[in-house]
Amino acid sequence: MKPVRKAVFPVAGLGTRFLPATKAVPKEMLPVVDKPLIQYAVDEARAAGIEQMIFVTGRGKAAIEDYFDIPYELQATLNEKGKHDILDLIADTRLAPGHAAFIRQQEPLGLGHAVWCARDLIGDEPFAVLLPDELLWNPASPCLKQMTETYAAKGGNVVSVLEVPEAHTDRYGIVDPGAADGAVTEVRGLVEKPKTNPPSRLAVVGRYILQPEIMELLAKGERGAGNEIQLTDAMAKLIGVQPFHAQTFDGVRHDCGDKAGFIQANVALALERADLADDVRAFLKTL
Ligand code: UTP
Repeated sequence: MKPVRKAVFPVAGLGTRFLPATKAVPKEMLPVVDKPLIQYAVDEARAAGIEQMIFVTGRGKAAIEDYFDIPYELQATLNEKGKHDILDLIADTRLAPGHAAFIRQQEPLGLGHAVWCARDLIGDEPFAVLLPDELLWNPASPCLKQMTETYAAKGGNVVSVLEVPEAHTDRYGIVDPGAADGAVTEVRGLVEKPKTNPPSRLAVVGRYILQPEIMELLAKGERGAGNEIQLTDAMAKLIGVQPFHAQTFDGVRHDCGDKAGFIQANVALALERADLADDVRAFLKTL
């Protein structure tokens, strides 16, 4: 079985729910406490042993490329001032030379299309997909690491899922579940944003390990929900052909693509920080 060495970060979406901020700032650069969303996703990928980070960007997303550059002037200034703690912080964000690739999705035709744009960089290897606006928080056992362990045992395709309220199933890709073994459930089917009769309450939450054959299915360019090329529809066609499992995420999910979720993430992560928790908690008590 080939290891998962590459990860795709689709970051070409328009981020309309965060307008007007996203007129000029990519959604993925919005900070939770002091790190941009994209950094949380990259850290999660690194913790799972991913070596090659592939960012699918689009118009107005140049800040993401700049972010992963080395900021020479800033480093020189901090060095002069002896601010070594901040220099270490910046060094932690650096990717190894040649380990970051940027490819453009010229039109936001959907998540499936964004992933397909990375096909030549993926080649014939399994790969991970991480949606950076989903902050899946478990520093001790990051989500993608949990999934690579399941992948090592089962092979094929693995998606991360969480149980959502029935009233929210029309917002997600929903799993039709087969046999369950602890946190791992066989996937018998997948439906994107079911309007009626959801097959379960297990929602796919922004992390995927996929086999390269998905690219041939995405190449057909078939439109699904919202007239977009949906990753879920292509994944559904692999079920029964390749092993397909859902891994229930053990941790806390913050949907940072949504304003309330983004604010909750900031509060929750600030309360975990020794340098911030007391001040933030005291302020919250005044409200
Ligand atoms: P979303 O559904 O959150 O869309 O995409 P969005 O454009 O980012 O945000 P809203 O809904 O307009 O506020 C989920 C993920 O898929 C990427 C997004 O960047 C995000 O990471 N995506 C979506 C693409 O890269 N390309 C697309 O065509 C669509």
